[in-house]
Amino acid sequence: MTSNLRIDGPRLLSRLAALAEIGATPEGGCRRLALSDEDRAGRDWLVARMRSLDLDVRIDAIGNIVGILPGAEPGPAVILGSHIDTVATGGRYDGALGVVAGLEVLATLREAGITPRHPMAVIAFTNEEGARFQPDMLGSFVWGGGLSLAEALGQRDADGAVLGAELGRIGYAGPEVPGFLAARAYFELHIEQGPVLEQEALQIGVVTGVQGITWLEFTIGGEPRHGGTTPMKYRRDAGLLAARINVFAHEQTQAVPDLLANMGFVRMLPGNVNVVPEQVVCTLDLRNPDQALLDTAEQAIRHFAARAAEKAGLTLAIRDLARFPPTPFDPAMIGKVEQAAGALGLTCRRIISGAGHDAQIMAALCPTGMIFIPSIGGLSHNPREFSTDADLVAGANVLLQVAYDAAMA
Ligand code: GLV
Ligand code: MN
Ligand code: MN
Repeated sequence: MTSNLRIDGPRLLSRLAALAEIGATPEGGCRRLALSDEDRAGRDWLVARMRSLDLDVRIDAIGNIVGILPGAEPGPAVILGSHIDTVATGGRYDGALGVVAGLEVLATLREAGITPRHPMAVIAFTNEEGARFQPDMLGSFVWGGGLSLAEALGQRDADGAVLGAELGRIGYAGPEVPGFLAARAYFELHIEQGPVLEQEALQIGVVTGVQGITWLEFTIGGEPRHGGTTPMKYRRDAGLLAARINVFAHEQTQAVPDLLANMGFVRMLPGNVNVVPEQVVCTLDLRNPDQALLDTAEQAIRHFAARAAEKAGLTLAIRDLARFPPTPFDPAMIGKVEQAAGALGLTCRRIISGAGHDAQIMAALCPTGMIFIPSIGGLSHNPREFSTDADLVAGANVLLQVAYDAAMA
């Protein structure tokens, strides 16, 4: 059911700009780490926007924010979602676009005097980024029942702050049970965060699924020694093993097809220039569209690290931070996104997502579709993340079409 409705483009852009002011960084990006003061301010802004649209605003026990537009018939809702937390050096659109565009879809229907047949909702999920608390997609994972509320609330950030306490501190530990709203369909509009659409001069990415994600944390124990007096053969250098694991993981990317790997966090103790590191905590982000290849690489890295630690007289503990399998989206939803882009005269291609998204969690609950728009220079998780106004509006109009279609069906 194609509709003549269109998003109010200038208003979408001004709302995105308003949210980007919250936690704005001098480099032009955003820093709204999950459950920080900036996240609270972003949440307050979002709740005010939802209230001004007269949505039924509910907060669940993990802090997911839900704005509901009732339908003519009761029953499962068509949910539009994403997140408003960012990484420490985030941009203006990662996550924010899906939430703000979702609100604009509901605003467009309201202003047209349309009551959808089925209820509709916009959800901003807590801690999608996994930058402060792990795993990523934490709020949607709890929503979908993949992670218990108790375990999620007990997660600690790198400084030891407890998620549940932080949620209470910012006033977003809500009364609803996560997952309280049944889903009929889920759609997420997002920036691509990679270079493909821009390189191919296409306007829309029709997302076919999300690749697998494995995050590991290594804690390596050595011996603190004087850096000037201890001959090399007497050292048990935890920092050296961290470096070797990083290099080995990189080498795996040359050996295992489509494997991506990076060490994104390293903390050395005691952290003095002239002391051989006693302890290192470091992380690896491993991704692959193929679970077997992802597992192969992980096992090789675990084996290498264990053997190298033993040979060097170091202790080693490895902890899972996140583990999400590759997730294909429902073929019917892929078709609907493709059809909507075509009906709007937009060029598109099918594409697999390299980044994790709440959509991959929601895909276990209901038919799920995702829409990408181009990221200039393929940049994301970077303050220079940028998408053109025309692409932002085009993506929101595709979201409007697929959401309208699902809500009226
Ligand atoms: C989420 O942004 C991810 O790390 O893919
Ligand atoms: Mn995102
Ligand atoms: Mn992100």
